[in-house]
Amino acid sequence: MSNTPESENTMETAVRPSSLADVASSHNKVPGTRALGTGLETRGVHAWFGKHHALADINLDFAAGTVTALIGPSGCGKSTFIRTINRMHEFIPGAAMAGEVLLDGKDVYAPGTDVTKIRLQIGMVFQKPNPFPSMSIGENVLSGLKLAQLKVDNKDDLLEECLERAGLWNEVKDRLGAHGGSLSGGQQQRLCIARALAVRPQVLLMDEPCSALDPGSTLRIEETIRHLSDTMTIVIVTHNMQQAARVSDYTAFFLSDGGPGQMIECAPTSDIFSRPQDQRTENYVTGRFG
Ligand SMILES: Nc1ncnc2c1ncn2[C@@H]1O[C@H](COP(=O)(O)OP(=O)(O)OP(=O)(O)O)[C@@H](O)[C@H]1O
Ligand SMILES: [Mg+2]
Repeated sequence: MSNTPESENTMETAVRPSSLADVASSHNKVPGTRALGTGLETRGVHAWFGKHHALADINLDFAAGTVTALIGPSGCGKSTFIRTINRMHEFIPGAAMAGEVLLDGKDVYAPGTDVTKIRLQIGMVFQKPNPFPSMSIGENVLSGLKLAQLKVDNKDDLLEECLERAGLWNEVKDRLGAHGGSLSGGQQQRLCIARALAVRPQVLLMDEPCSALDPGSTLRIEETIRHLSDTMTIVIVTHNMQQAARVSDYTAFFLSDGGPGQMIECAPTSDIFSRPQDQRTENYVTGRFG
């Protein structure tokens, strides 16, 4: 592969490993420097749908306060993997899993664990924004509080804080009573992020959160992700290599080579785009397949 320095536009559509590496190294940060807990780890995670072995032996560490991008061709198990992290996978009929998911060293699958609590600690944002359309913007943001049994002294303050952190406050502060469904797609996605933040999760899982959005909304959400990573651990699935380069500290490449999906390699994002260890990763990030 070529490591020739790029002088042209680094944001062009064609995937250029060295230019993506430059984008990635421009926001390098040292993980684990803040008191945010020890983060998230998966140990030997497998997943099945009935007899179909969808995911094999996934071992990954997500340091607290970092953003990790999960990349790989369609069907390699990225969504399945993140659904095992917050225990959503087991609610699919016929689905099974094996392995451990450790949040601050504690297995979220340990017997007696309250699944609702896990979902509150590990929030999720989906591909398609899913606000409650007939609830107001304000009600949407605060809708998880009851479930979380969170006592809040001042709901207005929390509302403003979450909308601010999600990068939406300025656009909606004068119409908090309007329906969630009255917002644009990009605004709805930021509303969903604000809703996820209101219950104060430690981890935020995002499954292609920008795939239905225009470039402006996408950049807004990417900025939001960078800010949020100061205080939480973020795992984002994306098919967009530029997005992985712009937003993530680490990138994990998944692949299903005829068998179950596997994690081929995980490394600092700039390394994945400049000197991947595995030929298959290089082929993927240079656009040779997938
Ligand atoms: N609900 C389900 N029932 C049965 N099989 C499923 C189900 N969901 C996913 N699978 C299978 O599990 C494998 C992994 O799917 P998954 O959705 O995790 O892939 P993905 O990497 O997220 O793909 P994409 O990039 O297209 O979203 C695929 O073979 C898929 O067909
Ligand atoms: Mg998916």
